[in-house]
Amino acid sequence: MFIKYLIYYYSMIVTPWEVSGEIDYDKLIKKFGTERIDKKLLDRIENIAGEVHPFLKRGLFFSHRDLKWIIDEYDKGNKFFLYTGRGPSGDTHLGHLISWILTKWFQDKFGAKLYFQLTDDEKFLVKDNLTLEQTNKFAHENALDVIALGFDPKKTTIIIDTEYSKVLYKEALKVAKKITFSTVKAIFGFTNESNIGKIFFASFQIVPCFLESIKQKKNVPCLIPCGIDQDPYFRLARDVLPKLGYYKPAEIHSKFISGLGGGGKMSASIPSSTIFTTDSPNEVKTKINKTLTGGRETVELQRKLGGETEKCVIYEYLYYLFENDDKLIEERKKNCKSGKILCGECKNYLTEKINKFLKDHQEKRLKAKLIVKEFMPDL
Ligand code: TRP
Repeated sequence: MFIKYLIYYYSMIVTPWEVSGEIDYDKLIKKFGTERIDKKLLDRIENIAGEVHPFLKRGLFFSHRDLKWIIDEYDKGNKFFLYTGRGPSGDTHLGHLISWILTKWFQDKFGAKLYFQLTDDEKFLVKDNLTLEQTNKFAHENALDVIALGFDPKKTTIIIDTEYSKVLYKEALKVAKKITFSTVKAIFGFTNESNIGKIFFASFQIVPCFLESIKQKKNVPCLIPCGIDQDPYFRLARDVLPKLGYYKPAEIHSKFISGLGGGGKMSASIPSSTIFTTDSPNEVKTKINKTLTGGRETVELQRKLGGETEKCVIYEYLYYLFENDDKLIEERKKNCKSGKILCGECKNYLTEKINKFLKDHQEKRLKAKLIVKEFMPDL
C-alpha cells in the first residue's frame, strides 16, 4: 500500500520544463509546501476588488505563497506590483493566457504595475532545436498577445531578456552570488552534463521580483501569478531576496489546463491538442471536434447513463475558461449527466465561445503592433 502511494506520489512530474503524469493538486501543495487559497482570502479580495475573478472563484488558481501578507500590506497602504512572464518557445496558446488574464484583472482592480518578462535566453538554453534568433522572434510575437489583453501601457513594462541585459545583468550577478551550484542542482535537477547557461539563468528570472524596488528606491511587495510549475524559481527567489534586502516575492499558482487530446497540459509542441491565439475559426472547429469528451461509446448509452463531466476536456474548458455564468454551467452539467444533451452540442457551444474570444483577440493583436514601443521603455 505504502509503495503504491509512493509510486503514485512521484509519478507526477512538475518542473519548469516538464509537466506529466496524473496531477493531484492537493499532493502538489504538500510536496511544494505552498498554501491553498481559501474562502477567507477570497472574501478579502472581494472586499477590495468588488468581485472575485472566475479563475479564483472556480479554483483555477488554487495555491499561493504569502497572498495573505500581500493583502495585509495593501490594506495598510503598501501597494504591491505584479510580475509574470513567458518562455517564448512558440506561438501563444490558451494555456498561457490564464496567468496573463488574471494578472490583468489584478492590475485593473488593485492599480498595480506589472513587469512581464519574456525569457528568450532561457528558451534558447533549454531547447535544443531553437536558435536565439527564433526565441527572440517568438518573444516579439508573444508580446503582441500580452498587449492585446489590454494592459495599461503606463503601468506595464515588457522585458525581453536579451534586449534588457544592460539592466538585468548587473542585478542577476548580485542574485547569482547568493546561489550555490548544489542549490540549483537540487531544485532543478541539473547534472554535470547540463550547459552552464541554464545554471546561471535562474538568477535572470529572479531579477524582476525586485525591479520595482530598485526603481522606487524602497522595498515594494511583489505578487507573481504563474503556473505552479514555475514555483521552483520563486522558492529560490524567496530564499535569496531577503539576503539582498528585499521582501520575499508572493505567488499565486494556477493549475494546468488539459491538452485537447486529454492527459497532460496544453503544450505548444503538440499543435493538434492546442488552441493558438492565431488559429482560424475552422482550425478551432476541427480541433474541438476531435477532442476527448466524457461521452459514452454510443448515443443510446449516453442517453441512458449520461456523460461524465469529470473526465471531459470540453467541460473543463467551459468550467474554467469560457462559461462564467454559474447557473448556465450547473445546468449544462445536469443536462449532460442526465443524458439530455450529447457531446456535439457542447462542442459547438465551446467552439462558438472560443471563436468569439479569438476574433476579438486577433483584432486587438493587430492593433498592438502600433503601440509595442510604449511597453518597452528604457529602464
Ligand atoms: N520560465 C518561464 C517559462 O518558461 C517564463 C517566466 C519568466 C515566467 N518569468 C516568469 C513565468 C514569471 C511566470 C512568472 O515559461
